[in-house]
Amino acid sequence: MFTELGCRCHLNKPGDEQTLQKMIPDKVPNKDVFHGSDDLKNEAHIPSFEKYKELYINSIENPDEFWGGVARDFFWKTKHTGPFLDYNFDVTKGEIFIKCMEGASTNICYNLLDRNVHEKKLADKIAFYWEGNEPGDELTVTYRELLQRVCQFANVLKSQGVRKGDRVSIYMPMVVELVVAMLACVRIGAVHSIVFAGFSAESLCERIVDSQCSLLITADGFYRGDKLINLKLLADEALQKCRDKGFPIERCIMLKHLSKEPEETVGSSSPPAKRSCPDLQVPWNPQVDLCWHTLIQGASDECEPEWCDSEDPLFILYTSGSTGKPKGVLHTVSGYMLYTAATFKLVFDYQPDDIYWCTADIGWITGHSYITYGPLANGASSVLFEGLPTYPDVSRMWEIVDKYGVTKFYTAPTAIRLLMKFGSEPVQKYKRESLKVLGTVGEPINPEAWQWYYNVVGEKRCPVVDTFWQTETGGHVLTPLPAATPMKPGSATFPFFGVVPAILNESGEELEGPSEGYLVFKQPWPGVMRTVYGNHQRFETTYFKKFPGYYVTGDGCRRDKDGYYWITGRIDDMLNVSGHLLSTAEVESALVEHKFVAEAAVVGRPHPVKGESLYCFVTLTDGVVYNNKLEAELKKQVREKIGAIATPDYIQNAPGLPKTRSGKIMRRVLRKIACNDKDMGDITTLADSSVVDHLFQNRCCTAV
Ligand code: WT7
Repeated sequence: MFTELGCRCHLNKPGDEQTLQKMIPDKVPNKDVFHGSDDLKNEAHIPSFEKYKELYINSIENPDEFWGGVARDFFWKTKHTGPFLDYNFDVTKGEIFIKCMEGASTNICYNLLDRNVHEKKLADKIAFYWEGNEPGDELTVTYRELLQRVCQFANVLKSQGVRKGDRVSIYMPMVVELVVAMLACVRIGAVHSIVFAGFSAESLCERIVDSQCSLLITADGFYRGDKLINLKLLADEALQKCRDKGFPIERCIMLKHLSKEPEETVGSSSPPAKRSCPDLQVPWNPQVDLCWHTLIQGASDECEPEWCDSEDPLFILYTSGSTGKPKGVLHTVSGYMLYTAATFKLVFDYQPDDIYWCTADIGWITGHSYITYGPLANGASSVLFEGLPTYPDVSRMWEIVDKYGVTKFYTAPTAIRLLMKFGSEPVQKYKRESLKVLGTVGEPINPEAWQWYYNVVGEKRCPVVDTFWQTETGGHVLTPLPAATPMKPGSATFPFFGVVPAILNESGEELEGPSEGYLVFKQPWPGVMRTVYGNHQRFETTYFKKFPGYYVTGDGCRRDKDGYYWITGRIDDMLNVSGHLLSTAEVESALVEHKFVAEAAVVGRPHPVKGESLYCFVTLTDGVVYNNKLEAELKKQVREKIGAIATPDYIQNAPGLPKTRSGKIMRRVLRKIACNDKDMGDITTLADSSVVDHLFQNRCCTAV
């Protein structure tokens, strides 16, 4: 059927017309659901559930037509020749591959900037309102200025020998120059690999080596709240580790962020930021270090884009893997561009006068897709925020909403739960009248937090789009559309266009109607990842092996009687701490690197703000006594190996761990101990059950 319609779906089992019709109900309930406001419906791209269903079915049955419509909005140097999507999703039939718009060539930077400046008359429109960590630190950049600065920096990269296909590592705070650096890579066809500035030197080194980056771009430092992060020191440490591993990177471009003098602002007519921070002394190695500001002086602000094929690599972004070694998720040019542009436009119901704000860091996929690519592809004006929701006080977010007149606001459940603790007063100090749509991402949102977000922040006026997706999916895959989908608090509702979800049982059978099991996808959509960088086999094993013919998300999911999807959380060895995925193996291996730790096991324990916290069990080497000093050392060890997000919340000394007779640690039992839940279920497979009593008696009651 797909073949007839021009989608060469190799060896896959497409849903027939009837199954497709059943995928999305005709009617959605009127009771216990929330609707978008009439005002929103009047201007919305997708104004009703019926329209959503009609377009959804078309997007699956006739992808060429659906995505062709999206693609028409972009510039193509050459047009694609074959089917819109060509793929194999079944490992038993051969190598997994996904190709979108083969034969086409384009440049994303050209589409995001040149086209907006020259064709869409958006040259003077603000692309970003930068709001620094310190209130009062602010800067704006227009589309024209952004284009100039990107071209200038692209020329710098070229002069440093960076060529198409080369990997460039970026380790920067939330500043406009981070967007400049990433788009400069894109302009010349280089592949950016952004490492979140909260990761440790060790993590940065690991990522640089894995993707064989030839250059690092960083900054002197930045403030997170009142805490100074000496980023350059960490970058230097990472580069030293790279040398020790036999992978020397000999060029590092440093932006002076904290110590920048106002007159150093080049290529921008915007007022220079007020710098309230002292000059930061950074170590400088003239053999390696290059100054951003010196390099851009004299660099031309014109740069021909490099035309890239649809399936050329666009960027690598690392995400935790269950083996402990992060996976370099690779996204490619055309599919990612179309998918982030379309999801941004429809999920936030983007309108030209919107002021959009996503609070994520660009170092995560949310920031890639919904601060840089999606918004700029639509010519949007966004807030780019460097600071924290609680600094200088817990009203900061709402102050910013009023200051810029934010209309569409996108944040994480963990931030909502954190602010919720302070009650409604800090929210109500500000008007928030401009808000129209609220969004969440990162983890399941508990209905209580949803209600608070909807009632207090949005004053029952703004729909909440609970967007389920992953680094791997590139963009939203299950999500409400704000004017079309009646919302149920805690449900990510229905699939986005082109996405076909299914729920499987343990034997891999598709479940129909209300059911619970593994969330999988039956066919690719343009934004899905293409491979794990340098390890295609790992890509196949991780996502396609368990259930041949399906992409496996690793999440559990329930479908209710109305057809709504509810994510129940990870069903692999992953933890979600404040919306960030960590693998238990990653934290365990950081702990056992300490000379006094013989064995470690890490589990998640529910946490009211972070979603999950890290509860670690450590078995010490013989003769070592557990004390506060060792605990502090272990905490530090994990922070240094991975980063602050992985800092253990609890560490329990465990002279013995619950194991099966074959020696496998029973994490299920450890999770019960972490939660002090005595309802253990069947533990007859335990080799030594006295271990469990001992661990219960010595539980940690307070977080370290
Ligand atoms: C995992 C992906 C996608 C950007 C942020 C995280 C969980 C994400 C939701 C949601 C329930 C969610 C899943 C997913 N997750 N959004 N709306 N409802 N769970 O990206 O680090 O790749 O993590 O985050 O468990 O698999 P990521």
